[in-house]
Amino acid sequence: MKKYLILLAFITLAAACSPKAPDIERQIYGILSQLTLEEKIAMTHAQSKFSSPGVPRLGIPEIWCTDGPHGIRAEVLWDKWSQARWTNDSCTAYPALTCLAASWNPEMSRLYGESIGEEALYRKKTILLGPGVNIYRHPFGGRNFEYMGEDPYLAGRMVVPYVQGVQSKDVAVCVKHFCLNNDEINRHTVNVNVDDRTLYEIYLPAFKAAVTEGGAWSVMGAYNLYKDEHLCHNRPILMDILKGEWGFDGVVVSDWGGCHDTDQAVHNGLDLEYGTWTDGLFTGPSNVYNQYHLAQPYLDGIKSGKYGTGELDDKVRRILRLQFRTNLAEGRGHGRFVCPEHSAAARRIAGEGIVLLKNDGGVLPVRDAKKILVVGENAVKMLTIGGGSSSLKAKYEISPLDGLKARFQDAEIAFERGYSSGAAREQDGISAKFDLTESRSPEQMVADAVAAAKDADYVIVFGGLNKNGHQDSEGGDREDYGLPYGQDALMEALAATGRKLVFVNISGNAVSMPWVDKVPAIVQGWYLGSEAGPALADVLSGDVNPSGKLPFTFPYEFKDGPVFNEEQYPGIPREGEDIIDEYYTEGVFVGYRWYDTREVKPMFAFGHGLSYTTFEYGEAKIKGRKLSVAVKNTGDVAGAEVVQLYISDPECSVERPAKELKGFKKVFLQPGERKTVTFDIPDEALSFFDADAHKWVAEPGEFIAHVGSASDDIRSSVNFKL
Ligand code: BGC
Repeated sequence: MKKYLILLAFITLAAACSPKAPDIERQIYGILSQLTLEEKIAMTHAQSKFSSPGVPRLGIPEIWCTDGPHGIRAEVLWDKWSQARWTNDSCTAYPALTCLAASWNPEMSRLYGESIGEEALYRKKTILLGPGVNIYRHPFGGRNFEYMGEDPYLAGRMVVPYVQGVQSKDVAVCVKHFCLNNDEINRHTVNVNVDDRTLYEIYLPAFKAAVTEGGAWSVMGAYNLYKDEHLCHNRPILMDILKGEWGFDGVVVSDWGGCHDTDQAVHNGLDLEYGTWTDGLFTGPSNVYNQYHLAQPYLDGIKSGKYGTGELDDKVRRILRLQFRTNLAEGRGHGRFVCPEHSAAARRIAGEGIVLLKNDGGVLPVRDAKKILVVGENAVKMLTIGGGSSSLKAKYEISPLDGLKARFQDAEIAFERGYSSGAAREQDGISAKFDLTESRSPEQMVADAVAAAKDADYVIVFGGLNKNGHQDSEGGDREDYGLPYGQDALMEALAATGRKLVFVNISGNAVSMPWVDKVPAIVQGWYLGSEAGPALADVLSGDVNPSGKLPFTFPYEFKDGPVFNEEQYPGIPREGEDIIDEYYTEGVFVGYRWYDTREVKPMFAFGHGLSYTTFEYGEAKIKGRKLSVAVKNTGDVAGAEVVQLYISDPECSVERPAKELKGFKKVFLQPGERKTVTFDIPDEALSFFDADAHKWVAEPGEFIAHVGSASDDIRSSVNFKL
């Protein structure tokens, strides 16, 4: 009884201290009645590249946005993309979201969200423009590195704690790019043709989770079109689904330059317009923002009676709600910026996301090395810059070469560049610290690397893509599935030396590796941010036992994948119109759903990732809808295993993927330790989206639950009935 009273007192006190939703709604109502029409209109569009006005006379602050999603972007000039050259805006660069997804650990997402949220708060930002959860549809997607992989369930589970972590710091996320923004080529003119089942099963769930479970306070519309309407003002997606079915009460922000039409912007769900006319300049810096679709044209439309004020009040109410949740939140803190805790978080997340793809003969971890030859431009190139809007001005970035030098102080560490991207030494106004000037021919660079490899115990190559144009970068897709800059020739030549060879692939996309059978150890190293070097050295040395698993499939060749013809990608130009139609004819068969069902063997499967120890699975048992399986660490080092649950529905009225991910848990085990992992299997995990009935349906009958270490490494399966 006493405990109950204390709890009751505590709850009452907590309720009295935090402004409750009804209070906020009451205040919003009051403010709305005091605002002039002009003030309301002003609130719905930008006043600079990254800010929109408040109402000073009522104490309502400006809204300030920042990219997102891997660190807090450097300040830019008021009307331009160019850097403002502040000296106090260098941030902590966190690993790319592909790496976060590869950790398969929601705790890492929470840590990521809280840390980056603190950095945003310190920089006085209202909205962080991220995270991105567009589904990885094919490996040419220029922005796949900013997203969370090919599986809607994994992306959904991983995005929720990120959202909650950021927003726990009174900074709003802006989940992007909603939706169907799966490639960069023609990004403003692509019209996606996709059936409802595929939309609901593949492309919406991660956004839905971010909104309905994460409670995201803002969402960014995408550049492309769906049903012939741009997604920044798209009736079916924003009004019917987001604000209708999901009950979203936050703000829809346009992508920068994604708003095209006043009528649609008024009626189809857009609340806040940013970045129109790309460089922010239209008729001149003094009045341009006033020309935005939701500015003077909107005001004129209301005054002439073309538009009512109901939509405007709704937009303003949402913007005020966001203000109360962020800038006006009671007890809003000050955050912190580039501190040891954030560096530690970045290193930890990176360590959990790095994936050991291959380790023949236990080449890794590096042991007893007297000489290590490090090869490859990505061992020294700054990779926190480039890639588009996610480019960062990092306070520091430790390269893989420096990370290895610090870790292996007793060994001789030599470096050979091996290949050259011919990269400029400056990107986005930020100078790379390493001089990348190169005068040797590609053949000479390979020959020099081979010569240097002769007396090395280990040869560790850092290659992959690099966020240059078309190499994991916004605004343009990749044009080739192969590795660029002659890296294949380099790998063939190094493999022929017979040294212990390790390839670390730095990318946010799958790449081909025609030499895969000749190289004993391969690591997926992502873009890891400030702590790249130490995190990679942790894994290569064995200080950290790798536990990452791939969030997307690596096919041998691009044509093996679900998207292989022109109508699917890059689409068919529509006659007489500035529209390119893309047809998602692969339907729900995206990623492993395709490879598994069509029995195409990938090079590295979804969910794949090795460890320096081994895990033994017991038999999966099912009681009712609770599945349990024992997992034991059978090696001699501590490690973590991601136990994955897939469900098959062998008989169904619609064609279903061979299996689909419906649960996962990361378990940490000491040598010899055994734990039982349990999963509840809700109806949701058995359902498909019935487009005709417009609802999720689980058809009674037989199902199979599979548990395993990867989508192609199922250890135990068990049948059950609904
Ligand atoms: C990108 C967004 C980004 C915005 C602001 C756009 O080009 O698509 O992801 O947040 O610019 O930089």
